[in-house]
Amino acid sequence: MSTTMAEILGRARVVPVLEVARADDAVPLARALAAGGLTVIEVTLRTAAALAAVAAILDRVPACTVGVGSIRDGAMLRAARDSGAAFGVSPGTNPDLLDAACATDWPFLPGAATVSEVMALGARGLTVQKLFPAALLGGTAFLRAVAGPLPDVRFCPTGGITAETAADFLALGNVLAVGGTWIAPRDLVARGDWDAITRRAAAAAAL
Ligand code: 3PG
Repeated sequence: MSTTMAEILGRARVVPVLEVARADDAVPLARALAAGGLTVIEVTLRTAAALAAVAAILDRVPACTVGVGSIRDGAMLRAARDSGAAFGVSPGTNPDLLDAACATDWPFLPGAATVSEVMALGARGLTVQKLFPAALLGGTAFLRAVAGPLPDVRFCPTGGITAETAADFLALGNVLAVGGTWIAPRDLVARGDWDAITRRAAAAAAL
């Protein structure tokens, strides 16, 4: 049986969300995160270098399980899957994206922001979801509130989560993992401060 999104997230607990502007940064960045203990990472499709970054990590950092994030339509999902990445992530969902996701068993984490969206995804069999933007939606209070009426759905909240708040999310029974950019923010990547990123990853891995 293929690896599921729940297995990937359950192993990860903390997923660094990355914006890689230069493909050359991808390998040292992934190695820095793995050195800190974070081996499940998400490269977002927000830069022209994103898929080249994924290819480099797949080729040269086998310790990493690399996914593709910021997927917004079916064509992007198919391109991400065909890149060889282990999983995909979207900030929200639309019919085209949902059809593409359901046409494959490639592990996919669809975004939801309302109870109705969570229910619509659950009806299509997607019961592991990204809550985004989690902090703005009420953070842990939102997740506690939906645990009763939506007991079969588990979340990876992202959006506004910090080193200080991540543990509160991880303590919840309906949270498999948390994601965010705080571990490898753009300025540290731009400066090539891999030691600082390893320290942040180690702190997050210890949560
Ligand atoms: C994402 O794509 O998951 C978010 O941009 C992460 O949000 P953050 O930058 O607030 O961590």
